[in-house]
Amino acid sequence: MDEGWLRRALAAKRDGEALDAPTWARIVEGYAAGTIDEVPIAALVMAAAIRGLDDDEIVALTEAMVRSGDVLAYPHIAGPVVDKHSSGGVGDTVSLIVVPLVAACGVPVAKLSGRALGHTGGTLDKLEAIPGVRTDLDPVAFVAQVERIGCAIGAQSDRLVPADRKLYALRDRTGTVASVGLIAASIVSKKIAGGADAIVFDVKAGRGAFMPTLDAAGGLARTLVRLVACFGRRATAFVTDMEEPLGAAVGTGIEAIEARDFLRGDDREPRLAEATLAIAHELLRLGGIPAAEVTPRVLDALASGAAYERLGLLVQAQGGSAAALDAIAPHPHRVTVGAPRDGVVSAIDGVAVGEAARALVAADGPFAGIRIVARVGTPVRAGEVLAEIAGSSLEPRRLAPAFTIADAAPPVRPVIDAVLRDADAAVSMKER
Ligand code: URA
Ligand code: CA
Repeated sequence: MDEGWLRRALAAKRDGEALDAPTWARIVEGYAAGTIDEVPIAALVMAAAIRGLDDDEIVALTEAMVRSGDVLAYPHIAGPVVDKHSSGGVGDTVSLIVVPLVAACGVPVAKLSGRALGHTGGTLDKLEAIPGVRTDLDPVAFVAQVERIGCAIGAQSDRLVPADRKLYALRDRTGTVASVGLIAASIVSKKIAGGADAIVFDVKAGRGAFMPTLDAAGGLARTLVRLVACFGRRATAFVTDMEEPLGAAVGTGIEAIEARDFLRGDDREPRLAEATLAIAHELLRLGGIPAAEVTPRVLDALASGAAYERLGLLVQAQGGSAAALDAIAPHPHRVTVGAPRDGVVSAIDGVAVGEAARALVAADGPFAGIRIVARVGTPVRAGEVLAEIAGSSLEPRRLAPAFTIADAAPPVRPVIDAVLRDADAAVSMKER
């Protein structure tokens, strides 16, 4: 095979030039089909990560990736179908709450999810902690479930954007995950292939996120919104705080419990509630619900139990039962982490808490994990409970350093740092 064109493309990218759309299409097609091996692709993604991709290149790469596999559609649903994506956080139980809540408010949600990545949790793992629940829905079953009960949470199938599956694994091995253009193309290609008409992104910023700074998170948020607009879909991106875990529960099954209890009205962690309700409102707005009706519908779905019932329907549709959902409980072995001294909780290390929770789940099962009792800003006396560990494999003294105790309270950080709507991101990525 004549690889002259490919060598020239690699050299151009290496020198900081932009590749045209036909070249991106040829590269992605060849790589997905196996006629181009991973050696030149590894070099290409490294050049792309260092040099960056311009707007047209990001669009071209995304289009080529979407074309590598199936694209879902919802022909029996008249109005918009929505989806929600989080860039990965700790104690981020939003999806498990928002999907049934928005469906109960009348807007169908087709949520394609990923697994846990690094120290962050994955929605699929949380849902599968409920006995019987499966997330490996085939595309036909996934679409049929959205049409029937208004929501589904499924794993990315092998047939949707297979090029991303290959490329992501290669990026993981080559230190090229952290590139705004490559990340945006990867995320948006899967959302477009999932068939949603509108998408709300939750881009996490802070120490517990993959984007440590507000600037970096804002840049990704803007790129995601503009990229989705290029495909004729609507999008909003929130930039939200990940300087501490979002909800109180960190684990898999215990986050499913937190979602259940939130919907049932037993317990609503304020920071989790703020993010969840903002994202639910935005999904409903993009789903075509008139502005004046959004808040009353959300309040009614929560107060009437309709949102909670919808979670039960989703669990049932995916192999579990409403009784199993009601019965899940944290690991019975509990120990507490006490404050080392008097003061105020000034920081909670999300990476440390997330990693400890993953290790607990691996050792003690899906209902092991960590419940944060003293959030950032809470005054504590020496010995007072900072967190509760469910499970027997983690000694409290190992978790204690994740909490910083200071003399004075740190400034209060808002949960939502920025909201970017497609109308605000007025400059289109590509004239079309
Ligand atoms: N999540 C994805 O799906 N792709 C990326 O590149 C990064 C995070
Ligand atoms: Ca439709």
